[in-house]
Amino acid sequence: MSQENLDELLNLAVQCAKEAGKLIVSAINKEKKIQTKTSSTDLVTETDKACEELIVTKIKDLYPDHDIIGEESTVLNSKVHLTSRPTWIIDPIDGTTNFVHGFPYVAVCIGFSIKQKVKLGVVYNPILNRLYYAKEGGGAFLNSQRIEASQCTDLTKSLLISEWGSNRKPERLKKVQENFNNFLTCPCHGIRSTGSAALNMCLIAEGRADGNYEFGIHVWDYAASSIIVEEANGVVLDVTSGSVDLLARRVVAAGTKKIALEICANLVEIQDERD
Ligand code: IPD
Ligand code: CA
Ligand code: CA
Ligand code: CA
Repeated sequence: MSQENLDELLNLAVQCAKEAGKLIVSAINKEKKIQTKTSSTDLVTETDKACEELIVTKIKDLYPDHDIIGEESTVLNSKVHLTSRPTWIIDPIDGTTNFVHGFPYVAVCIGFSIKQKVKLGVVYNPILNRLYYAKEGGGAFLNSQRIEASQCTDLTKSLLISEWGSNRKPERLKKVQENFNNFLTCPCHGIRSTGSAALNMCLIAEGRADGNYEFGIHVWDYAASSIIVEEANGVVLDVTSGSVDLLARRVVAAGTKKIALEICANLVEIQDERD
């Protein structure tokens, strides 16, 4: 795909994210219709669905032959079909729990892949007006300013980010806690959770934190943000220290390879069914 075509697709992704962002802004302080999905801590609102519909309609209109994977149009617990074909990967609201509570860390995520490789990504927080974007080989940007990941190489001087996730089955939660404990006793300077996997990744891209890991996420949570981290000269890996696997439901991101590898080395693995 030519650079011009990639630019066109990036512009479309930005436009879609901004329009969906307007829906989020107008709804965040109002009463919401909330439903649960796989458990009482896995939420969805009518705004998640409306944002996804808006984005999908706009993309289909211009690129009817592209494939689309969207969180809210994916049947629960079904397999995701990420093929070699041009594919849009959409999370209409990353941070639905935050949205429900009016906590201002929510983002529209739109990624685009070919041959299972992400070519561009947009992550937009309409509440704090932060638009992150990147395309392959073009650097990463926040509101038009180039961003760079941190240079930190010492885990004991690092600020990390991770999440508890919405799956609170006791056995699983024990391992999540074990991982938090490992890094807190290392000791890193601290561990933060924003409640948005994509914004966590973007904080790594921006150099506001040094390392991030999460298990249990889905392809729409980290497709768009993974290229933003890479284009900010950060590192994105699978927890096994190998290349990131978009369907493996886990990711490690860091400013430097050293921190990324040290995170991998210290993690207790959590097995979630692949997307
Ligand atoms: C969730 C958020 C959260 C992460 C969960 C995701 P959603 O996405 O990214 O930070 O811990 O694993 O499912 O459901 O709000 O789009
Ligand atoms: Ca969700
Ligand atoms: Ca998400
Ligand atoms: Ca979502």
